[in-house]
Amino acid sequence: MESLPTPSKLFPYPNGWYVLCKSEELKPGQLDSRKFAGQEIVLFRTEGGIPCATDAHCPHLGAHFGFGGSVEGETIRCPFHDFCFDVNGTCVKTGYGTKPPPKAILKTHHLREKNGFILIWFDANGLAPNWEVPEVSNEGWSEIRTTDFDLRSHPQETTENSVDVGHFSIIHGYSDVETLKELKTDGAYLNASYGFSRPGLLKGERNRIQAEIDIHVHGLGYSFVEVEVPKFGIKTRQYVFPTPIDGQKVNLKIGMSIKKIENSKKVNPILGLLPSRLVNSIVLNASFKGYAHDVSQDFKVWENKVYINSPALAKGDGPVGKYRQWARQFYYDKQENQ
Ligand code: FES
Ligand SMILES: [Fe+2]
Repeated sequence: MESLPTPSKLFPYPNGWYVLCKSEELKPGQLDSRKFAGQEIVLFRTEGGIPCATDAHCPHLGAHFGFGGSVEGETIRCPFHDFCFDVNGTCVKTGYGTKPPPKAILKTHHLREKNGFILIWFDANGLAPNWEVPEVSNEGWSEIRTTDFDLRSHPQETTENSVDVGHFSIIHGYSDVETLKELKTDGAYLNASYGFSRPGLLKGERNRIQAEIDIHVHGLGYSFVEVEVPKFGIKTRQYVFPTPIDGQKVNLKIGMSIKKIENSKKVNPILGLLPSRLVNSIVLNASFKGYAHDVSQDFKVWENKVYINSPALAKGDGPVGKYRQWARQFYYDKQENQ
């Protein structure tokens, strides 16, 4: 296999929070299994509504919960001998009505349910979370539209894209790119802001859109970008969630919500004649399509690039060096517990 697009041979997965799914995609009583950061996990929601992620294999005799297991009340039930485990991983019942063996402890993962998504914590040395993704109020905002892609890439690479200012014009066709706020960092948080003009939904120079983006990055798995198009009075939030599947692939989920449009006429005089709910949905559809298109323009590069540790940076690049320095905090220098 050719070399991985990864910044770390020893630690393929950066520590941090990763999105597994939208909250509404995990209903009470539902159980799903998947691969996350090279491990098989199961994700379920108890009948009482608590989301939980555990190792996929039962600590009794190793059956896989994803093949015949189920949610039973506030527990997960193994298909092999009906042992049940609560959300802390404690075995609370065997299928024989006997005392649960104290050694039967199911490994659970740290989870958060925030901003409409379920997030899982990864730490290469198994340590508990030492920072959080902030809550953001969605009052006055639409639901979040999402779609996702499985790609050969890495969370550090896809996240680097938002500060790789040089490619904005080459890959995405943006012009007049300017830095509105220099990159700054605070622990696991990184922020920068840019302005540019980009092709509009209709072809032609005079339909170009002037946009301002404010990038909020929380670790390498969770970013959202506030986008404003002042001319039309449109504000959107664009989410970017790369979640590592294994050492080669990420599941890239993108999402968008739109702030309720106050003045539809500003967007387009014809839209001013329509009910505001319809206008919001039309603009969200069109903007989401544009967003998904822009993100997919990067795929060919991401899937085939390698990670260059000491890149030959040039004037005109964005603050890639600063970003990489900040990103180092999500890897250990040495492996401790494994
Ligand atoms: S293997 Fe799960 S209950 Fe026996
Ligand atoms: Fe890009």
